[in-house]
Amino acid sequence: MSQAAFKVEQALGHGDSATTQQDVTNPAYTKGAADPSGEKMKALVWMGKNKVEVVEAPKPTLMEPRDVIVKVTGSTVCGSDLHLLHGAVVELQKGDILGHEFCGIVDEVGTEVTNLKKGQRVVASFQIACGSCYYCKQKLSSQCEKTNANTLANAMYGSRTAGMFGYSHFTGGFAGGQAEYTRVPYGDVNLLPLPDNVPDEKGLYLSDVLATSWHAVVDTGVKKGDTVAIWGAGPIGQMAAEFALYNGAKRVIMIDQNWRLDYMKEKYPHLDTLDFSKLGKGESVTSKLREMCDNRGPDVSIECVAGEYAKGWAHYFEMMLGLETDTSEIINEMITSTRNFGSCGITGVYVGFTNHFNVGSLMERGIRLIGNGQAPVHLYWEKLLKMIQEGKIDPLTMVSHRVRLEDLDKVYYKFENKEDGMQKVYVQTKWSAPPAEGSPSLTTY
Ligand SMILES: NC(=O)c1ccc[n+]([C@@H]2O[C@H](COP(=O)([O-])OP(=O)(O)OC[C@H]3O[C@@H](n4cnc5c(N)ncnc54)[C@H](O)[C@@H]3O)[C@@H](O)[C@H]2O)c1
Ligand SMILES: [Zn+2]
Ligand SMILES: [Zn+2]
Repeated sequence: MSQAAFKVEQALGHGDSATTQQDVTNPAYTKGAADPSGEKMKALVWMGKNKVEVVEAPKPTLMEPRDVIVKVTGSTVCGSDLHLLHGAVVELQKGDILGHEFCGIVDEVGTEVTNLKKGQRVVASFQIACGSCYYCKQKLSSQCEKTNANTLANAMYGSRTAGMFGYSHFTGGFAGGQAEYTRVPYGDVNLLPLPDNVPDEKGLYLSDVLATSWHAVVDTGVKKGDTVAIWGAGPIGQMAAEFALYNGAKRVIMIDQNWRLDYMKEKYPHLDTLDFSKLGKGESVTSKLREMCDNRGPDVSIECVAGEYAKGWAHYFEMMLGLETDTSEIINEMITSTRNFGSCGITGVYVGFTNHFNVGSLMERGIRLIGNGQAPVHLYWEKLLKMIQEGKIDPLTMVSHRVRLEDLDKVYYKFENKEDGMQKVYVQTKWSAPPAEGSPSLTTY
């Protein structure tokens, strides 16, 4: 279905909004995208539903005057990559290079890039922004109007998001950073220089997780003294918990079903947890949260899971039969759990349509349901970098493993199955420096 959707897109043709070339997901497949030297690199590519592989691909070359080629020194796997692996996000093509979080060293700059120099350390934002459109001027970079011309996305959503690295042709079709080199369109806006006192192992996560979790918390409106419930104790949920506390929440309750709750408890002993797989007869997440929160419920609820993970058979079958693309179970749980007039934010990825949505509870009880959107990284990354420098936040609390790019296909399956206590990985390449102080040592698979 993912590949068929791309065929439809090709038949329909792209819109004319983009000011950067679309569908350059692997330099091997686009004329003029490979470096004339013939140099090869390792890269992780999508091979079909539930299959990724590390392959050799050509090194990318500069294609546009504002391009930058980055020698990648660090990347990672995100919960969002699992939606690609599963084919839940459409319009992937066999051979597409994945990865939307990466940092590295500037290798080449286009003729119009004046703010970066070869050899400089940088981190990339997961979205590709032009820097000058209506949204970019306000730093709402995830909604840039000039980097994604996908017609299906426009028809489905009413308008499109920005282009994104390694995130299918649905978001423009750009090769990702799970590779030894990446081409960064509008490199002058989409790369943030990393200062010497911030090692790659901390700076990398400015690409996505840190900005995403920060946005989830402030956009959903966490205030001083709030009780906040967070669904999903993966990296996004973990940092959302940390940032909710940082912004004055008096209590955070994490909801999940596996070892990740213990991982969270170990890092933040004052957190409360709720394991939804261990509820008693007649109990639900909602009844339990109400009981835990003055018989009223949390003030704010944040979804850090995703719409593709059905809990019950009904949604499982409806999704399998194509009657919906996403389950409404977690959103309904958030709505019914949150206190009257409280707010709920959705940061986990939802792709399309859902059934059995509890619109009655939402309306009658005045719940503010907020789609947090793809997080606008540019709005927050400078502030978050400063917070890392000042030691106010430490991204290493979520980094459980350091792995090699060569092993990344195996790492995808382990991360998917929540094996080996894998919370967030740091993926090194042949260009990486030795592990920085406080970061995990290398695990090979
Ligand atoms: N909006 C954005 O800009 C943005 C950016 C990055 C990631 N995301 C999304 O955030 C989500 C989380 O990312 P991650 O990297 O932490 O992913 P992850 O897959 O590592 O974590 C998800 C967690 O949710 C738990 N879970 C599954 N079903 C649940 C349920 N019914 N109730 C409670 N918990 C449940 C899983 O056990 C897992 O621990 C993903 O959907 C990802 O795509 C969004
Ligand atoms: Zn991500
Ligand atoms: Zn823009």
